[in-house]
Amino acid sequence: MKKALVCGAGGFIGGHLVNRLKSEGYWVRGVDVKENEYENRNADEFILGDLRDPEVANEVITSDLDEIYQLAADMGGAGFVFTGTNDAAIMHNSVLCNLNVLEAAKNKGVKRIFYSSSACMYPEHNQMDPNNPKCSEESAYPANPDSEYGWEKLFSERLFLAYQKNHGIEARIARFHNIFGPQGTWDGGREKAPAAVCRKVAMAEDGGSIEIWGDGKQTRSFLIVDECVEGIRRLMLSDFSGPVNIGSEEMISLNDFAKMVIDISGKSLSINNIPGPLGVRGRNSDNHLIQEKLGWAPSTPLRKGVEKTYDWISEQIQKKVLEPVEA
Ligand code: NAD
Ligand code: GDD
Repeated sequence: MKKALVCGAGGFIGGHLVNRLKSEGYWVRGVDVKENEYENRNADEFILGDLRDPEVANEVITSDLDEIYQLAADMGGAGFVFTGTNDAAIMHNSVLCNLNVLEAAKNKGVKRIFYSSSACMYPEHNQMDPNNPKCSEESAYPANPDSEYGWEKLFSERLFLAYQKNHGIEARIARFHNIFGPQGTWDGGREKAPAAVCRKVAMAEDGGSIEIWGDGKQTRSFLIVDECVEGIRRLMLSDFSGPVNIGSEEMISLNDFAKMVIDISGKSLSINNIPGPLGVRGRNSDNHLIQEKLGWAPSTPLRKGVEKTYDWISEQIQKKVLEPVEA
């Protein structure tokens, strides 16, 4: 039986990945600073621990592991990463996790490690035109990410590649493009646009309005988490190190996305565009490389993923109905 460690198993993608690995017959250890608050708690062993502490990394990384998935990071949506107020914490916390995990993996002789980078590492100057952003993998340099979160991801990609080169650890690096779905953060300030918009629509009175940050013409693509996990597994089983995009190519403006969610809800709502943290003007995954190297790319239509996410967030709101939720 293969053994895997999922770092960040208390989080959104980590929780889904634990379930996937269990369904494939793996023995799975999870580690996180927090328990997973939703139902995906299926790790054989779950250790509450802070990976900024090298002792914790040494404890959870044992020489019998076949694979490590490093997803632990201080992360969030535009309201968390683009305000500038969390920059030092984001860089400090995430770099320490990556350094400690890699060093322990080297010392314990673990041979294969996955790292979750982000589309936020792509240069800002290629993402100014909302209708024609460039996010092909080779466009990463000369580097010019628009956030410290993106710079940290770019540095850490290089860290994983350096350990691969110097210490023979097989690295697999993916650049995720805005992953969403059930069990994702949907309130509290770290939520990304898909969950935030679903929450706003689900909470709005029929005939009312919802607020969308910016003019709503900025574009993104959003990928349902099941496809993300499929991509992680395919990359990990391949002989390609990456970095490679794992994202959807179904680009949409934020206002059109809001209209899609409103349509799914069956309500009649208007959109109020207000100032807010914006990030890049346009972003879309470029899936040529993943198709070429893995013979696969995500294909689930956006609407299908949004329908199940909207239902799940509506249920969460019902469960929390007596507690205040931030708009
Ligand atoms: P998440 O916040 O739900 O999961 C990250 C987990 O890491 C959290 O549970 C958190 O508690 C844990 N963590 C943070 N600091 C830790 C520490 N010091 N020790 C142990 N655990 C710690 O986020 P997610 O959406 O599941 O993202 C997973 C990974 O994918 C992250 O590295 C993130 O940067 C990357 N990523 C995600 C997206 C996305 O759209 N969700 C996009 C690009 C990249
Ligand atoms: N979060 C959020 N909440 N965003 C909103 C809202 C809202 O209520 N209304 C409009 N937006 C707009 C943001 O201003 C931004 O322009 C766009 O929706 C997308 O915001 P997010 O989903 O929060 O983040 P992002 O796509 O800019 O970046 C995310 O994806 C990266 C990978 O592609 C972040 O989660 C990054 O951490 C991640 O790495």
